[in-house]
Amino acid sequence: MDSLLKVRGLKLYYRTRRGIVRAVDGVSFDLRRGETLAIVGESGCGKSSMAIAIIRILPRNIDTYDGEIILDGVDIMKIDDGRFREEVAWRRISMVFQGAMNALNPVMKVGFQVAEPLILHGKMDKGEALGKARTLLGLVGLPPFIADRYPHELSGGMKQRVVIAMALALNPEIVILDEPTSALDVITQANIMNLLKKLKKERGLSYIFITHDLALASELADTVAVMYGGKIMEYGAAEQLYLDPKHPYSQKLLASIPTLRTDKKLEFIPGAPPDLVSPPPGCRFHPRCPYAMPVCREREPILGEVEKDRYVACWLYGG
Ligand SMILES: Nc1ncnc2c1ncn2[C@@H]1O[C@H](COP(=O)(O)OP(=O)(O)O)[C@@H](O)[C@H]1O
Ligand code: SF4
Ligand SMILES: [Mg+2]
Repeated sequence: MDSLLKVRGLKLYYRTRRGIVRAVDGVSFDLRRGETLAIVGESGCGKSSMAIAIIRILPRNIDTYDGEIILDGVDIMKIDDGRFREEVAWRRISMVFQGAMNALNPVMKVGFQVAEPLILHGKMDKGEALGKARTLLGLVGLPPFIADRYPHELSGGMKQRVVIAMALALNPEIVILDEPTSALDVITQANIMNLLKKLKKERGLSYIFITHDLALASELADTVAVMYGGKIMEYGAAEQLYLDPKHPYSQKLLASIPTLRTDKKLEFIPGAPPDLVSPPPGCRFHPRCPYAMPVCREREPILGEVEKDRYVACWLYGG
């Protein structure tokens, strides 16, 4: 499979009163055509920042925005904002934003909200866009009359389907899904996961699936990137990572997943995630790592290939 998207050394820093927040600090990965890459890590590790950096929907307080984002051989970081909006955002890469289902416009009928991107970016007239909106609602398993409802008349699962329909409106190749089910009950969550699987298969989509839940990621992921403190700590094929996590942080994350089959004591990770204004020197995980060595406090380990297609940033593997 060829790489559809290559991200290299991506950085996104915010300016704040406390100082510079290094939310995404040199992140690199590949997304192959038709695959799901899961980005997993605790809240605050920079997952959403990485997503908005890729789709270039940025807040004002940006300090640094740097790196390469190569889509089908073209570095889209080098494209100016106007062309990016015209040619890339929503058409080639789209996104389901974290919490978007609760940000639907309460006074606008759902059908019109799905039609809006088609009018704005797809240059359709209103009638045509509303017709296409009904088709899109059908695609995500909603009956056409939903188009005439207001968001408050819909359940959480239905609202999330609407938001997914909006992301698919301009027929993108890549969809970034930022915690798409975390606000939903487990049954609804399972239904949405099934919908995402079905859409991926039918439309040949590639997903970047962002979640804090490693167990949930296992349902969709072909490849997993474990993120900690603005960096990728481990990256590789999902099956191998779940069977044999290499990085101490991945091991801890896996050990904290409850299972029905064993009565193994659940672990939790002591301490708190790093402050990204002044992250710990050396390995950012060292204050919480049971294996921390002197070198870990001083020198930062680089993400290196430890086995074929398995990358780990840890001094236990030679740094
Ligand atoms: N607009 C912003 N301005 C300043 N800091 C921000 C902004 N957005 C996010 N952050 C900070 O960046 C870090 C990463 O946040 P985020 O990308 O939302 O992580 P995640 O999605 O993994 O929870 C956090 O410390 C968060 O407080
Ligand atoms: S580099 Fe050191 S502190 Fe960091 S995860 Fe590896 S052993 Fe732990
Ligand atoms: Mg987030």
